[in-house]
Amino acid sequence: MLSLGQVSKAFGGVRAVDGASFEVEKGEVHGLIGPNGAGKTTLLNLISGLSQPTGGAISLDGARIDGLPAHRIAAKGIARTYQNIRLFAGLSAADNVVVGQYLQRRAPLWRRLLLLPSARREEREALRAAEETLARVGLRGRAHERAVNLSYGEQRRVEIARALAAQPRVLLLDEPTAGMSAPEADAVARLVREVAREGCAVLLIEHNVKLVMALCDRITVLNFGQVIARGSPSEVAKEPVVIEAYLGGA
Ligand SMILES: Nc1ncnc2c1ncn2[C@@H]1O[C@H](COP(=O)(O)OP(=O)(O)O)[C@@H](O)[C@H]1O
Ligand SMILES: [Mg+2]
Repeated sequence: MLSLGQVSKAFGGVRAVDGASFEVEKGEVHGLIGPNGAGKTTLLNLISGLSQPTGGAISLDGARIDGLPAHRIAAKGIARTYQNIRLFAGLSAADNVVVGQYLQRRAPLWRRLLLLPSARREEREALRAAEETLARVGLRGRAHERAVNLSYGEQRRVEIARALAAQPRVLLLDEPTAGMSAPEADAVARLVREVAREGCAVLLIEHNVKLVMALCDRITVLNFGQVIARGSPSEVAKEPVVIEAYLGGA
């Protein structure tokens, strides 16, 4: 579904991503791991159109998407979360999730601004859908709490709900369990599995190696912007280059 061919991104002299190629299939949870600074977030930024590759091709269902602006890529069904949480602090959890649904909704902005009945109906519908999505990430009772009052783990889950609210075909998660308790992280892992089972292609950056090993169908390992290993969790875990990248060859 999502295909990267020789994708590169240079920042001045730094080759943050250096000829990376891999594919993420429909229904797959694909892990993207590697040490700090390996280029994982940069790669997600390239896929989601936040920045443009300096080389290579990114395709969705065989059609090139690299070079498109972020909103066009989002409209094609690619949603993401951010390593550094990006919520509207003063808005409720539910309203933050409603923001993620706008791409799917029909009422154009002018109708919403005029508060025409059809638009108001859609607003109510959007809020209801947001509450359902929040329930899915375990925040049923927190939907009307302002984001700023939520715990770190709860804010991360709102981010995931916002991405899911766009009903994506491809879901990009940048360290979704960072700072979470073990039970919270396990709940996110179960949710990710469920989303994949529904047919979404999931690309997951995750620093919790145990979680990655248990959850992912396949894993791509980046180091200094390059793919140094790929395969099933057990294949990747055996690779000497992976052990060296993580443990510094100790
Ligand atoms: N906007 C930027 N300008 C310059 N260098 C950047 C920029 N973004 C990332 N980098 C560099 O690219 C490399 C990869 O960073 P990043 O993608 O954040 O790694 P990871 O997510 O794997 O920890 C790092 O060396 C980082 O300093
Ligand atoms: Mg990162």
